[in-house]
Amino acid sequence: MEHRRLYGNLLGCKSIMNVWTVLILPIVLHLTSCAPLKQLTPVVTMEQLLWVSGRVIGEVDTFRIPLITYTPRGHLISFSEARKYSASDLGAKFIASRRSSDGGYTWSPTSFIVDDGFAEDGLNLGSVVVDDETGGIFLIYTLCAHYVRCSVSSLMITNSSDDGFTWSTPRNLSLEIGTKMFAPGPGYGIQKKFAPFKGRLIVCGHGTLDEDGVFCLLSDDHGSSWRKGGSLQGLPFNQPKKFGDFSPDECQPFELPDGTVVVNARNQYFYHCRCRIVVYSTDGCNSLPLETVRFDEGLPDPAVAAGTLYKGGVVYFTNPANEYHRVNLTLRWSYTSGALWEQELIQIWPGPSGYSSLTALSKHMEDNENIFVIYEKGKEDITESIAVVKINLYGRL
Ligand SMILES: *[C@@H]1O[C@H](CO)[C@@H](O)[C@H](O)[C@H]1NC(C)=O
Ligand SMILES: *[C@@H]1O[C@H](CO)[C@@H](O)[C@H](O)[C@H]1NC(C)=O
Ligand SMILES: *[C@@H]1O[C@H](CO)[C@@H](O)[C@H](O)[C@H]1NC(C)=O
Repeated sequence: MEHRRLYGNLLGCKSIMNVWTVLILPIVLHLTSCAPLKQLTPVVTMEQLLWVSGRVIGEVDTFRIPLITYTPRGHLISFSEARKYSASDLGAKFIASRRSSDGGYTWSPTSFIVDDGFAEDGLNLGSVVVDDETGGIFLIYTLCAHYVRCSVSSLMITNSSDDGFTWSTPRNLSLEIGTKMFAPGPGYGIQKKFAPFKGRLIVCGHGTLDEDGVFCLLSDDHGSSWRKGGSLQGLPFNQPKKFGDFSPDECQPFELPDGTVVVNARNQYFYHCRCRIVVYSTDGCNSLPLETVRFDEGLPDPAVAAGTLYKGGVVYFTNPANEYHRVNLTLRWSYTSGALWEQELIQIWPGPSGYSSLTALSKHMEDNENIFVIYEKGKEDITESIAVVKINLYGRL
């Protein structure tokens, strides 16, 4: 129902625009975000490596798990795990960060904003979420996600009130939500822009906080306090999984203009398909009802953290589009809230590619033309580097 309603609105918008375009085409193209729907011709206009593994940046062995977000001032910040001594998910790490104030063309040197010391099961990223009402930015990560030589998992949060230049001393959210493992994202959290629960901060992830599956943390007081919202449990619940079991995993939420939150999740053990799990919440992620779950065969996936973004009537999706291997980083788009994906697509990188995340700026009019993709990229292995790509949606180089 929601899809049909939204699609109707978009078509209505488009037909009005068609009348206008005859009269004032250039102005319409610039002023409306819904004008050239169905006419997207995305093209990569820039790509650069933000981090390169192999002990060439601060002697860091491997960079993985890229995040990117717009900032309240209309800049970009990216983050990654700087794995100090090896490529392993375990081990000691920094959180690395770089920012761009010119739309992604130049980036600040890397700063290391968090250091877990010599931890054997150190930090893992994570989600970044911007509160557009207060200008706060929050970065949430996990300590001891794998219970290797540690028995208590902690969820940590650091925030910035100066657009990401400085970050607070990390605060221990496990004091509020408990110490079972929660791995946010990886990706970004959202602030609801539409009722119900407009203004709510939502960070979704996976783990064992609710024993099993995907769940979301919610804040209705601009990030001061957090609590557990809805969950989508795995099956068999709270038991070891094997191939073919239902195990929703790393995930990315986005909001549609009717207030529905869509969570797009990794299908860890390929239940039903080698494709994405999608779940819909109409109550601001108070619940993630099992009966809304859909398996999106239009999004073949090798079980990975993928990127989604809603912008101007279009849903964008990035992943390594291959059912078996992490190769073929691809951008898709949908004019129907993700119900159908366009046949056209962009292959961003044919080779090894892993986790990805998306963002867009919105401060200036030209921002409506671009989206940004950050992803793990390599020639032999996905762990070789982290790249950022700028894509012009209307084919303008
Ligand atoms: C972090 O968030 C808290 C609660 O919203 C706020 O009081 C504090 O000023 C923020 N700190 C920074 C560094 O932004
Ligand atoms: C976070 O809080 C939990 C619950 O009190 C505690 O067990 C854990 O050790 C704390 N973690 C850190 C890193 O302080
Ligand atoms: C890459 O993705 C495209 C689009 O889904 C597909 O047609 C192609 O077969 C894929 N190639 C590989 C090597 O996965």
